[in-house]
Amino acid sequence: MATVTEPRRQTRKAFQTKLLINGQWRDSVSGKTFATINPATEEPIAEVAEGDATDIDLAVKAARRAFDTGPWRKTDARDRGRMMNRLADLIEQHIDELAELETLDNGKPIQESRNADLPLVIDCFRYYAGWADKIHGQTIPIRGNYFCYTRREPVGVAGQIIPWNFPMLMIAWKWGPALAAGCTVVLKPAEQTPLSALRLGELALEAGYPEGVINIVPGFGETAGAALVAHPGVDKLAFTGEGRTAQIIMRGAADSLKRITFELGGKSPNIVFADADLEAAVNGSLLGLYLNQGQCCCAGSRLFVQDTVHDRFVDQLAAKVKARKLGDPFDASTQQGPQVDQAQFDKIMSYIAKGRDQGAKCVTGGERFGNKGYFISPTIFTDVKDDMAIARDEIFGPVLSVIKFREIEEVIERANTTDYGLAAAVWTRDIGKAHAIASRVRAGTVWVNCYDVFDAAAPFGGFKRSGIGRELGEKALDNYTELKTVTIALD
Ligand code: NAI
Ligand code: MG
Repeated sequence: MATVTEPRRQTRKAFQTKLLINGQWRDSVSGKTFATINPATEEPIAEVAEGDATDIDLAVKAARRAFDTGPWRKTDARDRGRMMNRLADLIEQHIDELAELETLDNGKPIQESRNADLPLVIDCFRYYAGWADKIHGQTIPIRGNYFCYTRREPVGVAGQIIPWNFPMLMIAWKWGPALAAGCTVVLKPAEQTPLSALRLGELALEAGYPEGVINIVPGFGETAGAALVAHPGVDKLAFTGEGRTAQIIMRGAADSLKRITFELGGKSPNIVFADADLEAAVNGSLLGLYLNQGQCCCAGSRLFVQDTVHDRFVDQLAAKVKARKLGDPFDASTQQGPQVDQAQFDKIMSYIAKGRDQGAKCVTGGERFGNKGYFISPTIFTDVKDDMAIARDEIFGPVLSVIKFREIEEVIERANTTDYGLAAAVWTRDIGKAHAIASRVRAGTVWVNCYDVFDAAAPFGGFKRSGIGRELGEKALDNYTELKTVTIALD
């Protein structure tokens, strides 16, 4: 295994660290800053302007002005699409620099930033650029001599609060449909990973977005985030993160009756039947849990394996997990980097301890890796029971719970015994079983003989406590548009 070394290949020495408000880069009104930390070294990368309620107020007012009276309102839909394509082109031109920035701030392996996150970011912007001039209403044959039609108008100022696990990709999911629809935005990036958002802000200005259309206020959730949630000038709020935070946000948004969409956590069942292509299932299960250090809302963290192949499957999986290469995320061969911060590291280690205490068997991993950086050895627990903490709670780390099952009815019931409903997967060569799982597991996404297949065109979001609404695809445009019905008497 590689040792943890200093990140290399930092092509950009100076970082944008200010707030973007009304097209200008400025310090926070309080003058406060906070450090963003390199999770591979635990050392600070840069001091970033710390926005709070005062800065949020300025940003919302700028977004409000840009929406209500600025030139943005009069921009042709097709030109909004062209602007977004320009942003996508600029991101593509700076793809290496942006991938390195993401890896530096988040700790994810450079081969993932460069070959997974960034291509998905670019694709998402291009996809929504194509929608900008295709958002239209209908004519409706109502009773009487009337001409009735609908218009789809932008909802207004969108407040967007995002997490740190896919910093730029979460921006693309949020800005794409919002800006295509003609909204203006105030983004609060996660305090762990503000740098790539600010760099995208620079590129957005270069792409030609008018002042006030895109505002970015880094800061903490309880201050900047809460102020954005409560601000009466915000029409719509989109949040991705923890369910508990979503509950606070829902209460905070109640006074102003904001439209809200949530993309929250999961404890997704990944079901392997004995008749599956086991090698494909092993590889898919590996990806489904350990991608991005296990910090994925849709992680396949409950791996149900049919009893007749259970031991063989676990052996094959454990061999691959043990061979995973941890270390310097800037090393092109690294497969797993550090967790994002001390809090996430501590949370994951506490779940590993609970797994052991409650009687699960740790087959591999289960400890810190190295002595610098928030690295955790990829971990597999077997003999996991449905009521153990590691089978119920979202761990958000490289910890897999393997659960044995016997037959299909049983596994469907157990798969659904969760408050979450974000994703699920099934591995089988039997099309009947595949369809049964696809129709009966209560989750927003079901993958059959694959995992983590994402596309900007395919809606994503959760049943139950995994969310409200859908992102991506045509569906996400609904989040950022109001439908207006116009009825005209013809005589
Ligand atoms: P979080 O939900 O607290 O943070 C996500 C975003 O919300 C950040 O930008 C944060 O500043 C903001 N925020 C926090 N409190 C807020 C408040 N009161 N009002 C407005 N905004 C607020 O998630 P955190 O603490 O980073 O991670 C905790 C757990 O949440 C993770 O261990 C994981 O289980 C889950 N999570 C799920 C994600 C997903 O993709 N569904 C992403 C990140 C975390
Ligand atoms: Mg939190």
